[in-house]
Amino acid sequence: MHKKMFTMLVGLSGLCAILFISIHLIVNSLVVFDSINASGGIVYNQVNHFIYSNPFAKTFESLIAIGFLCHIFMASVHALQKLKKEATLSSAKEMLILGLLIFCFLIMHLLQFRLKTDVTSVIINNIKMDNMFLVVFNTLSNSKIYCLIYMITGILLGLHMHNGFLSMMKKTGKNSNNTAQKIATTFGIFFSVGFVAIPLYFIFA
Ligand code: HEM
Repeated sequence: MHKKMFTMLVGLSGLCAILFISIHLIVNSLVVFDSINASGGIVYNQVNHFIYSNPFAKTFESLIAIGFLCHIFMASVHALQKLKKEATLSSAKEMLILGLLIFCFLIMHLLQFRLKTDVTSVIINNIKMDNMFLVVFNTLSNSKIYCLIYMITGILLGLHMHNGFLSMMKKTGKNSNNTAQKIATTFGIFFSVGFVAIPLYFIFA
């Protein structure tokens, strides 16, 4: 594949990753919202059910999730190619290691939540749906180790997004200014804090 085309696809899949991660963070924050309100997962389960049952939402979610997974694969190939040329390139090495660690987390995560077969059902507003709230609630409130893994991944994800943002700005020639650095830092801190806050709540709840 043409080098420029490949770089563009890495960028495009990166946008899918940002979109997926942002929506995923907002939706999964509802687990904490429902827990605080002791609602039994009414809001979280309904939003989750909508995403996985409405044809448009389902197609959109699947596309950005696939884009996100493609990003992990393509960005790793991209980093490996860079390292082949310049073995000491620490930014590429760092991104590759962070990406691989996040990938390892994803395998555990998908087995835990997405590919789980014994999910119980719940009826909300006369609609039968998977009780995903209970799955997430039980997983995080019964294991401090899992909470810790989720928190570490949250920090790695924030770092990865910070570096990714800076690398994107470098390609557009805007990385040298202070604003780019500030935006990248804010971006990274926002996602880290968001993904750390969810399991942290279950450690102290
Ligand atoms: C506390 C944090 C998180 C919670 C509570 C959470 C929860 C979930 C749940 C419940 C599902 C399955 C949805 C369903 O089948 O109904 C899921 C899927 C998924 N999660 Fe997470 N997640 C968290 C963090 C993350 C992070 C940090 C990543 C990425 C690094 C991630 C990536 C994914 C992916 C790729 C899927 C599959 C989506 C699909 O198949 O359409 N999650 N997550």
